[in-house]
Amino acid sequence: MVRHFISLKYFSPSQINELIELTGKVKKNRALYRYKLKDKFVGLLFQKPSLRTKSAFYLGAQQLGAEVIYYAPDEVRMGERESIGDVAKTLSCYLDAVVLRTFSHQVLEEFVRSSSIPVVNGLSDLLHPTQVLADIFTLYELKRDIKKIKFAFIGDGNNVCHSFLYIFSILGGNIYVATPKIYQPQSKIVEECRSIANISKARIYLTNNPKEAAKDADVLYTDVWVSMGKEAEAEKRKKEFRGFTIDEELLKLAKKDSLVMHCLPAHRGEEITNSVIDSKHSIVFLQAENRLHSAKAILLFVMGGKL
Ligand code: CP
Ligand code: NVA
Repeated sequence: MVRHFISLKYFSPSQINELIELTGKVKKNRALYRYKLKDKFVGLLFQKPSLRTKSAFYLGAQQLGAEVIYYAPDEVRMGERESIGDVAKTLSCYLDAVVLRTFSHQVLEEFVRSSSIPVVNGLSDLLHPTQVLADIFTLYELKRDIKKIKFAFIGDGNNVCHSFLYIFSILGGNIYVATPKIYQPQSKIVEECRSIANISKARIYLTNNPKEAAKDADVLYTDVWVSMGKEAEAEKRKKEFRGFTIDEELLKLAKKDSLVMHCLPAHRGEEITNSVIDSKHSIVFLQAENRLHSAKAILLFVMGGKL
């Protein structure tokens, strides 16, 4: 069976924990994994810009011995120059895995239906699972037990937030999501997560009050207010998200040793202030670094038969 990495919702707690452990092993002992994907070919098909995801999967695949081909936005023009299915079938002839970054999540699903090689979701409008896996690894590395902490996601209930809802609902823990009313996470996802949480005993709180989420939080997490593809709404969004900036005032409400996280890129002065993102609480560049190690674990999982 082909192993994809499309959504965390398809993973069991033990599989996620194994991926987290594998990330740690890969980080600790790079040399041991040097040839694990020798003679494999990985394609990166990106329809949106990227710095971290591209670097993590590109360099990660090379560090595992694989060869990489990158298709920039506009190069393939999937769905326009030729159908999604034809692109998936063609790439399946050349490659051993594809990392796909796209807009609509349905594009990913359609691609998977025609692909005979593993597909990794490098971000869709709905989900960003590779980011969230790296972030949970980062918390684990810093000895934060996600089952015991208060995790506050403040900002847009979008792709990154959705993937956090899935991972918390699977692993357990307390996640607070503070968004303006119209930017709440999709109710279908919240309901699905609440039902998964019946097993893990995770607690999911939605609020429109960032202070409620920040109060005594162990982790403050944010993401841009204007995601890729939403640029035309930038001015409107900046007004609607007023009050949701992670600034000194919000940080003071959190625990003294709280951590501040951001998937990056950051729009400094919008969702987070310079003083907070550059403060001792911030672990944003450790998160960025860990994207590399967790990308390697994901590639080993989909291609190397690990887990
Ligand atoms: N966090 C993240 O996915 O960054 P890029 O968009 O630069 O890949
Ligand atoms: N929500 C952001 C995440 C970027 C990594 C976006 O989709 O643009």
